[in-house]
Amino acid sequence: MIPFNAPPVVGTELEYMQAAMSSGKLCGDGGFTRRCQQWMEQHFGSHKVLLTPSCTASLEMAALLLDIKPGDEVIMPSFTFVSTANAFVLRGAKAVFVDVRPDTMNIDETKIEAAITDKTRAIVPVHYAGVACEMDTIMALAKKYNLYVVEDAAQGVMSTYKGKALGTIGHIGCFSFHETKNYTAGGEGGATLINDPSLIERAEIIREKGTNRSQFFRGQVDKYTWRDIGSSYLMADLQAAYLWGQLEVAEQINQRRLELWHNYYQAFKTLADSGRIELPVIPANCRQNAHMFYVKLKNVEDRTNFISYLKEAEIMAVFHYIPLHACPAGEKYGVFHGEDRYTTKESDRLVRLPLFYNMTDINQRTVISTILSYFA
Ligand SMILES: Cc1ncc(COP(=O)(O)O)c(C=O)c1O
Repeated sequence: MIPFNAPPVVGTELEYMQAAMSSGKLCGDGGFTRRCQQWMEQHFGSHKVLLTPSCTASLEMAALLLDIKPGDEVIMPSFTFVSTANAFVLRGAKAVFVDVRPDTMNIDETKIEAAITDKTRAIVPVHYAGVACEMDTIMALAKKYNLYVVEDAAQGVMSTYKGKALGTIGHIGCFSFHETKNYTAGGEGGATLINDPSLIERAEIIREKGTNRSQFFRGQVDKYTWRDIGSSYLMADLQAAYLWGQLEVAEQINQRRLELWHNYYQAFKTLADSGRIELPVIPANCRQNAHMFYVKLKNVEDRTNFISYLKEAEIMAVFHYIPLHACPAGEKYGVFHGEDRYTTKESDRLVRLPLFYNMTDINQRTVISTILSYFA
C-alpha cells in the first residue's frame, strides 16, 4: 500500500528527544522550545513565535487575544478545516463564509469587502496547499475597515508571498506541526506568530493559563499571578525536540517535497493540456512549499472512480474538506455570504495524491504510471 501521507522522519529526532529527557525539563518552554521559536523568529521574520499544542490551539489563542465576543463576525472561506471556524465560534462569533477562487482554492479577495458589516472583527485567510492568499488586498481591506487578520498558515510553513513568509503578514499567524504537515512535532503541534508587537505581552499570558509566568521565568517579576483569561497552550519540550530535528533540515525537506511536486506536475501536464484534468496554479508572486499535490477531475463521479481505481492498485488518494457551510455546525454557526459559485463545485472535483518527505522515487513512479493508465 502506498499511503497518502507518512509523518516526516529525518533521523535526528530520537537523539534530540533523548537530550530533552536528560535535560530534567520536559514541560513547555524548555531548551528545544526556545531553539525552535528563535529559529522561526529569525528565519521567517516574526516578532514573537510561541509553540503550541496544535494549530487549532493557536487559532483559539488568536480568538482570545482579539477579544472575539458573541455577536462578532469573522470572515473566512468555507473550504477549510473545522478549526478555522471553531476557534471563533467558541467565543460566540458567527463565521461568515466567502467563496474561493477556483485557481488556488483560496478565499476570493474580491468578494471579501461585500461581506464586511459593522460586526466584522477579523478576516481569516487560509493558505490552501501552502499557496498564499492575495495578502496585499486582504491587508488593505483590514486597514480600511480596522479589522484584524489572522492567517491560517497551517499548511504554509516555508511558503512566501512577495518574499514574505506566510504567517508573518497578518497581525497573527498560525502554523500546524501535525503529522500530516511538512514539519511535525512528533504527531501534533503548532505555533502562534505574533506579528503585531502590541499583542505579545497578552499572548504570553493567555498561553500560560492567564498568568504572567513567562515574565516570572525571565526574572521580570518576582512572582506570577492570575492576570487574564487564558488556557494551557504550551507544547511539551519532548515534542519540540522532535520538531527541532526537522527545522534544522527545513530546506532539505522543502526541496525534496518540491521535487516530488514537480515530478507530478511534469507527468500530468499532457493530461492537463488535453483538458482531462486541471493542475494546481501557483501565482507568480508566491513561493510554495509543496505541501500538497492535487488534481481536479471532471466532476464528483469521475473523482470517485479515480479514487477507487487507485485504491484497487493499493494507492491512497483522498479528497479534502466538505465545505463548512454545508455541514450541520456550519449551518448553525455560520452563513455563506454571496454566491457559492466555486466552493462546492471545485471541492467536489479535487483529489490529493500521496506526497510526503520520505516517499521513494519508485513509489512515486508507481502512482504516476497508475494514474496515466486510468486516463488511458
Ligand atoms: C487549514 C487548516 N487549519 C487548521 C488545521 C488544524 O491543525 P492542527 O491539526 O494542528 O490543529 C488544519 C489541519 O489540517 C488545517 O488544514
